[in-house]
This record gives sequence, C-alpha cells and structure tokens, in this order.
Amino acid sequence: MTVSPAIPPSQLRLSVAPMMDWTDTHCRVFHRHLAPHARLYTEMVHANAVIHGDRSRLLALDPVEHPVALQLGGSEPGLLAQAAQIGTAHGFDEINLNCGCPSDRVQAGRFGACLMREPQLVADSVAAMVAALEDRGVDVPVTIKCRLGVDDDHDWGHFLAFIDTVAAAGCRMFVIHARNAWLQGLSPKENREVPPLRYDWAYQLKRERPQLQIIVNGGIATHEEATQHLEHADGAMLGRAAYHDPYLLHRLDVAWFGGALKTRGELLRGLRPYIESQLARGVHLKHITRHLLGLFAGERGGRAFRQVLSEGAHKSGADWSLIEQALSLTESSQDMRDEPALGQTLGSGQARA
Ligand SMILES: Cc1cc2nc3c(=O)[nH]c(=O)nc-3n(C[C@H](O)[C@H](O)[C@H](O)COP(=O)(O)O)c2cc1C
Repeated sequence: MTVSPAIPPSQLRLSVAPMMDWTDTHCRVFHRHLAPHARLYTEMVHANAVIHGDRSRLLALDPVEHPVALQLGGSEPGLLAQAAQIGTAHGFDEINLNCGCPSDRVQAGRFGACLMREPQLVADSVAAMVAALEDRGVDVPVTIKCRLGVDDDHDWGHFLAFIDTVAAAGCRMFVIHARNAWLQGLSPKENREVPPLRYDWAYQLKRERPQLQIIVNGGIATHEEATQHLEHADGAMLGRAAYHDPYLLHRLDVAWFGGALKTRGELLRGLRPYIESQLARGVHLKHITRHLLGLFAGERGGRAFRQVLSEGAHKSGADWSLIEQALSLTESSQDMRDEPALGQTLGSGQARA
C-alpha cells in the first residue's frame, strides 16, 4: 500500500474551509493576504467537472494562494484519480475528498456525506488517487473531510472503522467536521447548525491514532476557541467565521506564527495590485469585493464600508477608488483600534457610522 505524503505540521495549524460559492480564487487570494500561513481550500468541484468542464474557471488559481487544496466531489475511483491528476497538474498542493456534504443533489449522486456509509468505496477512491499521483511522481497528499457519522448513527466504533479503513488505503490527514450529517429533513445550512458538535470525538481520534493528522472543524467562532483546539489536534479549520470576520484570520496567523499585526486598511491596500490586475483583465470589481464585506465587521464604519462596496461595486467602471471611498469611512477608527467599537459604547439601535 502506498501512503499519501504527510503535510508539514506548521501548514496544518490554521486552515480556511472549502465553501461553495464563497472560496473562489479571489476569496482565497484575499485570505492569503490576511493569513500567510493558512492552508486554503477551493469550493468542492465534482470529478466529472474537472475532467470535462471549463478548467480555466473551475481550477483558477493564483500563485500567491499556495498552499492550497483542491476539494473534489465524487465516488468513482477512476474518475477521482483522473481529476486528482489534473488538479495537481494545475498546481494544487493537496487533493481533498468531500465526505461531508449532505445536500440532496450530492446524495443523488452518491457522494458527499453519504460516503460515510461506504468506507470501502472511499478507501478505493483514496487508493486510486494516491496510486495515480505516485505513478506520475507527484508528491501531493490525498486527504478526507468528513463528519462523525450520518443520521442517528452515533457509534464511535463505526466512525473509527471508517477512519481506519480509509487510513489503510493511504490517507493520513482527516478534517473532521465534528457533528453528524442528517441526510433527511435538514437543509445543508441546518446541517451546519442543528446536529450537535462533539469535538471530543476528534480529540479522541487524535489520541487513539496519533500517527494521523487530525484537523478540527465546525462552529469555531473566536480566537480563543481556535487556540484551544490546538491543544488536542493538529489544526483548526474555520469556515463561516473566517468568511464573515476575515480579520480573525489575520489575528490568528500573527498569534500562532509571529509577525506584526497590520490594520485592516493596510491589509486591504496590500491587495490593490491584485485587484487592479484583475480589473485590467476584465474581472468586475463586485466579484472581488463581495468577499471583502466582512473586513470591518464589528468595527466603527464597518456598516458604511459594506454598504459603499455593495452598492457601488456592480456599477460599470467601478474601480479601486470605490474601495478607497469605503475605506475613508473607516479610517478614523484606525487610530483608535484598541478602543471599543462604537456599537459597544453606544446603546444598540443607535446609528453606527
Ligand atoms: C456557504 C458554504 C458552503 C460550503 N461548501 C462546502 C464545500 O464545498 N465542501 C465542504 O466540504 N464543505 C462545505 N461547507 C462546510 C464547511 O466547509 C464547514 O465544514 C462548515 O461550514 C463548518 O465549519 P464552520 O462552522 O467553521 O463554518 C460549506 C459551508 C458553507 C457555509
């Protein structure tokens, strides 16, 4: 059996979750500016789409994004192996297989979370991808993102058997979204909120299988929570919190890896060359700014910043000056960033800038 290469531990500590419609290349470039050491993930792309679809769009990747993983959906080992080869040829640093998505469409295609019921099929898929990459001399890890179980299966033994079966096929890194997926009756959104989180299972997995690399995901909302997970596992993966409050990523990166804390304005201005180069290539500003809206979340001027970008970025000719305009509404807070946000000093309901 061939084992997938290990990921350097420092690259595991902080990661941003794969999020459909959200973590496209513009979003990932933004997150990379905020968190130079984070591991980034694409949206899930089905293996068939990788093989037959528009690769320049689906596999778009900017050189600054590394290390970045391509997340694949699918359950046919041959197709996944082919897609993994294509993904690594495009420069992705990891191939991650989705075993956690509960949507109806995904269930109909027999992939995503329902794969947790088919450990051998996942193992065969992993083995096919690992072998295909090894054949090409490609040293890229094949990893899994999964739940704890599906529906009302709360059997630790089943979960461990799933992990062991897949690990025996060569997978060493598992992202554990630490709750079950309910395949009937809950929307994908509810499936990220309703089934209770059980981080202790991810921790126990790390204790019982210390040779595996275990990343904890699900509901991590604060700096303190993220930091706590590092005591029990190899890393913390943030999804919604990273997207809605991206400055959290910067604070975590600086706290865990060192470096100077930059202001939100400095970080955004660091993105200017990228944004201008994309505009010059014909990309509309709104496709980039939609990912920036949370940068001043909870800060003085944050709402105005969001509003200026939301209202102006879709207009024809919108360019960097719109971002400067939005920033100017927040600038006064830059000098007082250690002070509480206005919303905390005024009663709720009073106007924020
Ligand atoms: C809008 C959105 C899209 C998502 N798309 C994916 C996806 O493509 N693949 C995947 O494995 N998980 C996907 N997820 C789940 C996240 O990766 C993550 O597991 C989940 O949101 C829990 O982490 P969080 O509480 O930090 O957000 C998505 C989540 C959101 C909010």
